[in-house]
Amino acid sequence: MKIQAAITTAPGKPFEIQDVELDAPREDEILVRIVAVGVCHTDLVFKDAGLIPSPAVLGHEGAGIVEKVGSKVRKVVPGDRVTLSFRSCGACPRCKSHDPAYCHTMPQLNYIGMRVDGSKAIAQNGQAVSSNFFGQSSFATHALTYERNVVKVPAGLPLELMAPLGCGIQTGAGSIMRSLACPAGSSLLITGGGAVGLSAVMGAKIQRCETIIVVEPHEGRRKLAQDLGATDVIDPNAAPDLVSAVRTIKAMGVDFAFDTTGIPEIQQAVMKCLAPKGVFGIVGITPPGTPLPGDVNQAMTFGHSVKGIIEGDSDPDEFLPELMNHYRAGNLPLERMVKTFPFTQINEAIAAQHHGDCVKVVLVMDKP
Ligand SMILES: NC(=O)c1ccc[n+]([C@@H]2O[C@H](COP(=O)([O-])OP(=O)(O)OC[C@H]3O[C@@H](n4cnc5c(N)ncnc54)[C@H](O)[C@@H]3O)[C@@H](O)[C@H]2O)c1
Ligand SMILES: [Zn+2]
Ligand SMILES: [Zn+2]
Repeated sequence: MKIQAAITTAPGKPFEIQDVELDAPREDEILVRIVAVGVCHTDLVFKDAGLIPSPAVLGHEGAGIVEKVGSKVRKVVPGDRVTLSFRSCGACPRCKSHDPAYCHTMPQLNYIGMRVDGSKAIAQNGQAVSSNFFGQSSFATHALTYERNVVKVPAGLPLELMAPLGCGIQTGAGSIMRSLACPAGSSLLITGGGAVGLSAVMGAKIQRCETIIVVEPHEGRRKLAQDLGATDVIDPNAAPDLVSAVRTIKAMGVDFAFDTTGIPEIQQAVMKCLAPKGVFGIVGITPPGTPLPGDVNQAMTFGHSVKGIIEGDSDPDEFLPELMNHYRAGNLPLERMVKTFPFTQINEAIAAQHHGDCVKVVLVMDKP
């Protein structure tokens, strides 16, 4: 079928909205009419570093309405409202332990820009277009996805707010609520107050952390962090010595730290902000080859650990409904963070996010 998609043409170039052809769903595939799709920093990393060959359709925070399902699909039927998360196999040891973010075939199912059999679901003028990004490629009016990606959205919950649950929000909130499992009364340092960092603030508030320190250069984001529950904020431009700024607030250091900046120097400094037995969780994407931060003897002496985190250790089937309940109860005020733009303004929306005018951009499709 003919659809419209935001195409990457070359690393570093803006997206172009173009007509492309999408395959009909195979027996295990689900055709979703996308209503809204969030933009995650990871989409921009893949676009600008050319990690998937262009032309490509990225997008991995889609939400919409099921239009058609393959013959083997049982989980959803046409008409269901769904949000889309990452893809996992459902059969490997990690998936069987409800830990699908570390699925043994995570890279093949999410990051290679094609189905595992090597075929691409999208074409343009007879040329194959990289697709299947995170098992969805949802920067498009329609996407093909899988049972393991979809989570139903109950009536009444707005799809434009439920779309980014599938990556950025579950990653931020889940890192605090699941991966680090910060207990009530604990102290936490969050570096970077973008969409993932501010979702971590909301997660920390839900966990009843006592001290929540956010480091973020944009003033508006620091203010929002405070509104969402941060107890202290640090402007890295005004306080370039992160370690002393944090230790002024918490002399013995913090119990937990969470990095969303992906800046190696910041990660190194964060290691020096940890209290004894402190745990440092990392989601920010660093330049390739960056070593783990810290000093082995220091880590040993103080019992520190460093933890890589994917998707907040979320099992979307369990955790997204939990987050939806928190949204309903007012504990996850996503509307404070999300700004919607028409899909056709994808480049303008990304520029606004980059300049700090808004935190989480969600693109909304025209009504059919
Ligand atoms: N591991 C995962 O599963 C996963 C999932 C989603 C996103 N990510 C990654 O997490 C990171 C954060 O994603 P995001 O969507 O929140 O991006 P973002 O760009 O919205 O947030 C990054 C924030 O860091 C701030 N920052 C920049 N320089 C800083 C400094 N010197 N000190 C403190 N803060 C600084 C920026 O102003 C921005 O607000 C990205 O690298 C993204 O690719 C990883
Ligand atoms: Zn993402
Ligand atoms: Zn698996």
